[in-house]
Amino acid sequence: MHTLGKMSALRLLISIIIMVSVNISWPVLMDTNAVLCCPPIAFRNLIVITWEIIIRGQPSCTKAYRKETNETKEANCTDERITWVSTPDQNSDLQIHPVAITHDGYYRCMMVTPDGIFHRGYHLQVLVTPEVTLFESRNRTAVCKAVAGKPAAQISWIPEGDCATKQEYWGNGTVTVKSMCHWEGHNVSAVTCHVSHLTGNKSLYIKLNSHKCLFLVEE
Ligand SMILES: *[C@@H]1O[C@H](CO)[C@@H](O)[C@H](O)[C@H]1NC(C)=O
Ligand SMILES: *[C@@H]1O[C@H](CO)[C@@H](O)[C@H](O)[C@H]1NC(C)=O
Ligand SMILES: *[C@@H]1O[C@H](CO)[C@@H](O)[C@H](O)[C@H]1NC(C)=O
Ligand SMILES: *[C@@H]1O[C@H](CO)[C@@H](O)[C@H](O)[C@H]1NC(C)=O
Ligand SMILES: *[C@@H]1O[C@H](CO)[C@@H](O)[C@H](O)[C@H]1NC(C)=O
Ligand SMILES: *[C@@H]1O[C@H](CO)[C@@H](O)[C@H](O)[C@H]1NC(C)=O
Repeated sequence: MHTLGKMSALRLLISIIIMVSVNISWPVLMDTNAVLCCPPIAFRNLIVITWEIIIRGQPSCTKAYRKETNETKEANCTDERITWVSTPDQNSDLQIHPVAITHDGYYRCMMVTPDGIFHRGYHLQVLVTPEVTLFESRNRTAVCKAVAGKPAAQISWIPEGDCATKQEYWGNGTVTVKSMCHWEGHNVSAVTCHVSHLTGNKSLYIKLNSHKCLFLVEE
């Protein structure tokens, strides 16, 4: 009996922990629509639904729905792109339409039921695809750039050269990564720049020109 009592106490504890903390890390592409879902609770069991939106540098916005009175309320919500998907009695999900670079933050749905409180939180990370370019700047030196991506892209080369990579941070949270490489000798005739990023990888290829003609003219 004693053991059974312990086990059910443990079960209760586990179910409380599961009820309280479901957090999801969520990368989402800028300019798309994002829909954030509440915990899967049947509407008939609901008392109150609350969305809490915490974006750095802004007062936290709260949207709440009380089923008994079929009333919605808001506090500190100024962003018209963040709305209920539908009336909360139809659908309790939240939509961001469209996702902007400033929407990085924490979004949490809380559902109050007679059995307890259920939470689901999203750490939203807005992704911006960098613009990728590759060109030969001078004699056997190539420059590969991933402009204004979020987060910063990673640049690698095939074959490896003698490289210098710089990052430039913009005020809007994007980063430009610039990698400049040089290949000594003449046995490397073409190089590939590989840009890896959460929004997708890209590879660009360029033939290295030895600039022999130009070099002769200059001499
Ligand atoms: C509204 O913003 C103020 C100032 O940041 C904050 O103190 C308050 O808790 C917010 N209200 C709600 C309901 O989130
Ligand atoms: C709740 O209110 C909305 C709009 O205010 C209305 O469309 C809907 O039919 C109402 N739902 C219920 C269950 O009364
Ligand atoms: C961020 O700032 C950079 C530099 O001003 C700009 O090129 C880029 O388009 C901006 N990106 C976004 C998503 O606002
Ligand atoms: C180009 O590179 C080759 C080999 O590294 C070097 O010998 C030559 O002087 C360079 N030419 C110019 C114009 O820099
Ligand atoms: C170029 O030459 C170097 C040294 O001679 C050698 O180590 C390297 O493998 C060569 N690369 C290619 C692509 O042939
Ligand atoms: C992108 O490149 C990185 C590193 O090269 C690799 O780990 C990742 O799997 C690649 N992603 C895709 C979608 O190919």
